[in-house]
Amino acid sequence: MTAARQRILSGAKPTADSLHLGNYIGAVRQWVDMQSQYDAVFFIPDLHAVTVDFEPGELARRTRTVAAQYIAAGIDPEQSIFFVQSHVPEHAELAWVLNCITGFGEASRMTQFKDKSAKAGADAATLGLFAYPTLMAADILLYQADLVPVGEDQRQHLELTRNLAQRFNARYGNVFTVPDATILKATAKIYDLQNPTAKMSKTGESPNGAIQLLEDPKIAAKRIKSAVTDAGTEIRFDADAKPGVSNLLTIYSTLTGRSVAELEEAYAGKMYGHLKVDLAEVVVDFLTPLRNRTNELLEDPAELDRLLARGAERARAIASVTLANAYDKMGFLPRAGR
Ligand code: TYM
Repeated sequence: MTAARQRILSGAKPTADSLHLGNYIGAVRQWVDMQSQYDAVFFIPDLHAVTVDFEPGELARRTRTVAAQYIAAGIDPEQSIFFVQSHVPEHAELAWVLNCITGFGEASRMTQFKDKSAKAGADAATLGLFAYPTLMAADILLYQADLVPVGEDQRQHLELTRNLAQRFNARYGNVFTVPDATILKATAKIYDLQNPTAKMSKTGESPNGAIQLLEDPKIAAKRIKSAVTDAGTEIRFDADAKPGVSNLLTIYSTLTGRSVAELEEAYAGKMYGHLKVDLAEVVVDFLTPLRNRTNELLEDPAELDRLLARGAERARAIASVTLANAYDKMGFLPRAGR
């Protein structure tokens, strides 16, 4: 008998008009690489998207855009389970259970909550934002995921997920697999092009700091060419002393498959301008087909919706079993007729 394949699970929020290059390099790329060796679950966490200000008129379009970007990047919706979080009500249901075993202090220590609530102000920060990490834990635990490929900024949420799984299992009986984060050191944090000590994000201060996967590749090329570097001249990887140049080398290396050492050698004695011009071309060559394919997929929203509906059915078949098991262990009165 062959052992069951390990399961991986991950997702990216539909909080902007496009995913950015940090999402791709830090996460989506790993998913594509891993999906054939693992039993894979990829979803679009739209319930997470409403924990901060959002436009109701934009949410559905952004959700479909992320779905199209997953497929354009190489996620195979037949091979992998691919769905929208709000289509599977078990996520919100298990999140409630997890809220009831999470300490107030424990949730208060989540750095993303601290950052986001500080930005939003005390009244604008909602209970939903506070409970964001328990919903994320529910996303993972419902599917008994073994591995969760994410960027560095999700590490603390994964730690909490592990703690909650262990706590539930110890308190009520064994239900959940305790997952591990898969965070690739070299690409775990892609930095803002204008502020290379901050991570590239959907809400960075300068629009020039991020490369949007759906934007005009010519604009992306300009952003690479105007990336902040340093007053030196040497093209060398040194994340502390040369964060801007190091970030460009990481992006270059990931998109071409050439190692950083090989790039350092190839650019020895050359100027930053050379590196930027070449990388701008690499980025354009990467973005152009990805963007075209995404737009093509978006022209047929009915087909995307069909794939997502099919994925939600597959997801529910797994999630409903885990939730029923958790309820059972907790001693809820079973619903008659089930
Ligand atoms: P989100 O939508 O912010 O980002 C999606 C993925 O992209 C990674 N990422 C980065 N990686 C490297 N460099 C960057 N600059 C960068 N910016 C973002 C993130 O680490 C993430 O892996 N909470 C999650 C979504 C989520 C989730 C889940 C993920 C909800 N439920 C369950 C895994 C499992 C988030 O906000 O990702």
